[in-house]
Amino acid sequence: MSRVYLNGKFLPKEKARVSVEDRGFLLSDGIYEVTPAYRGQFFRLNDHLNRLRGGLAALRIDYEPEELIQVHRQLLENNDLTDAEVAIVYLQITRGVAERTHYFPTNPTNPTVYAFAKEFHRPSMERWLEGFGAVTVPDRRWSRVDIKSISLLPNVMAAQTAVDAGVEDALLVKNGIALEGAQNNIFVVKGNNLITHPATQEILHGITRSVMIEIAHSIGISLLERPIQIEEMENIDELFFSGTTTEVRPTVTLDGKPVGNGKVGPVSKAIYKAFRKEIGQSIDGDC
Ligand code: PDD
Repeated sequence: MSRVYLNGKFLPKEKARVSVEDRGFLLSDGIYEVTPAYRGQFFRLNDHLNRLRGGLAALRIDYEPEELIQVHRQLLENNDLTDAEVAIVYLQITRGVAERTHYFPTNPTNPTVYAFAKEFHRPSMERWLEGFGAVTVPDRRWSRVDIKSISLLPNVMAAQTAVDAGVEDALLVKNGIALEGAQNNIFVVKGNNLITHPATQEILHGITRSVMIEIAHSIGISLLERPIQIEEMENIDELFFSGTTTEVRPTVTLDGKPVGNGKVGPVSKAIYKAFRKEIGQSIDGDC
């Protein structure tokens, strides 16, 4: 039975209750994080908590997440996930219970802090090597998507468009720029360069994205942070998505057309291999 964390207590998921007056429920007034653990070791948990701190500050939610390090560990233990190859902890903090107003409640609220852990299954290496598909979708989100808000309706709609098209990813496009995925960042290989959108307010500053950048530097791949025009997709060599629940996902078709030569390319493979090494789960031989 899954044991979750809610407001200072660990309890069976079935017993967890949140008020209908919670501003997260009524107004999506909250933020979240998803952090991976590889065989019981959290990866970049401090980076995730720092991004969370930034979101809490932007929303003026008064909560210091330091205690959540222990909560993350405890959730793995309570759910027998310390040996799982990959597990994730989902964490959500909302402003808490208050009478419904659009503005912040005048009296201080107790933020609602909820977290659960679950196993994550990555695709087999054989499946990964076949590559994945994506479709372009207009980006209908707000203008501060660097805040990891729980308000995800445009992302949900975009992800469903991908499912309806029978592919894994939705590539969000705004003003002719390919920004990121519905739940992941993007990287393009063009000639000798690996390119990703700069960390502006128009994308989420993915922790995996920053790992990809570190890896590119360490294995000698030239990395550019610049906007990617959607027209450029006709002439790129490789495309991949990155994220906590995506890891490195190479795209071989975009809107039904082949990306590059339609095969998973050498840069995607080199980055993925280095990523697996970084998380302590090296791939034997070549991928
Ligand atoms: N999604 N961009 C968006 C819009 C995202 O929702 C995410 C993460 C990312 C990648 O961020 P990171 O590398 O820190 O996971 C980029 C999470 C996993 C989710 O919504 O489940």
